[in-house]
Amino acid sequence: MPATSAILPYLESIEQSGWYSNFGPVNQALEARLATRFADGTRVVTVANATLGLTACLRALDLPPGSLCAVPSWTFVATAHAVTQAGLTPWFVDVREDSWMLDPETFAAQLKHAPGPVGAVIPICAFGQRLDLDAWTTYDRNSPIRVVIDAAAAYDTATSADIPVVVSLHATKALGAGEGGFVACRNRDFIDRVRSITAFGFHGTRESLCLGTNAKISEYTAAVAMAAMDTWTTTRQTYQRVAQRLRILLMNAPVTFQDGWGLDWITSVCVAHVGDGRSAEIAEALSSQGIDTRMWWGLGCHTSRAFADFPRAPLPVTEKLAASTLGLPYFAAMQDEDIIRLATALGAALRS
Ligand SMILES: Cc1ncc(COP(=O)(O)O)c(C=O)c1O
Repeated sequence: MPATSAILPYLESIEQSGWYSNFGPVNQALEARLATRFADGTRVVTVANATLGLTACLRALDLPPGSLCAVPSWTFVATAHAVTQAGLTPWFVDVREDSWMLDPETFAAQLKHAPGPVGAVIPICAFGQRLDLDAWTTYDRNSPIRVVIDAAAAYDTATSADIPVVVSLHATKALGAGEGGFVACRNRDFIDRVRSITAFGFHGTRESLCLGTNAKISEYTAAVAMAAMDTWTTTRQTYQRVAQRLRILLMNAPVTFQDGWGLDWITSVCVAHVGDGRSAEIAEALSSQGIDTRMWWGLGCHTSRAFADFPRAPLPVTEKLAASTLGLPYFAAMQDEDIIRLATALGAALRS
């Protein structure tokens, strides 16, 4: 998160303008600045968080209520919550074993077994991993199924938005504003609809033109996000340095990281493949050394009690990933001694 001193100039500008929310000048500057990360013509609307951003995108698609929306079970529960909040029904699907993500071919194969007509699909950028957005754009163009990308952790890698892309600015993400997020898309009408849904259905009016909610961010949130963007290059390098140190120290250990993690893309978490079926045992071994770990996505979203009754495709890869991957301690300010301690303990646990 940015230092207070970096946020201060933006706070002073809020005081001067006397504009505290409702798409004020700092938010306008933030949206314009975020849009420059994408191809020309991309529009951005900020949202209170990525969960509400996904819900707003799904609502903007205007699908018949109750329609099936395919969601990889290998995701954080927020994705499925967004689906139900949009009045749709999650249908859990499996991902590829190599990328941990859904691609159009893997989806098409599962689609044959869908329990009914599918209205939308939400591919996930797994822990911020680069997703083939071009392939999904082509799919969106050539299929009756609409695509919305959950790029919650993918601030670094989500840089094209021919289809809607939703990014989180939560404090746990690489670019943090505390709570917050944004939707990027080259379709201006779509972004206008999303903006309207996030602002009571207003569209330059005082009358609600469509059903909506309040998912705006305040100028204060925009200020923190602006300050975070000011220091993004350094933040990114710091994450890269920690990741690369860890990779070097574990070079000969039987552990693998997501393809390109910490090398050509960064994210705020480190999820390692620690061996087939070994995640619980390795977590236990690290815990005995006082090192905490996370199973960020549990045993798959479909196993949460809230989603137990929703339809699902066979999920062998999701189940395998849940038992084989582990979130390790990782943060930008991680010191060399912490990295060495983690690598030593993990190396020993993996060899035992
Ligand atoms: C894959 C995924 N989708 C959605 C979200 C929700 O983001 P937010 O906390 O901004 O609502 C997260 C948050 O971690 C996430 O990992």
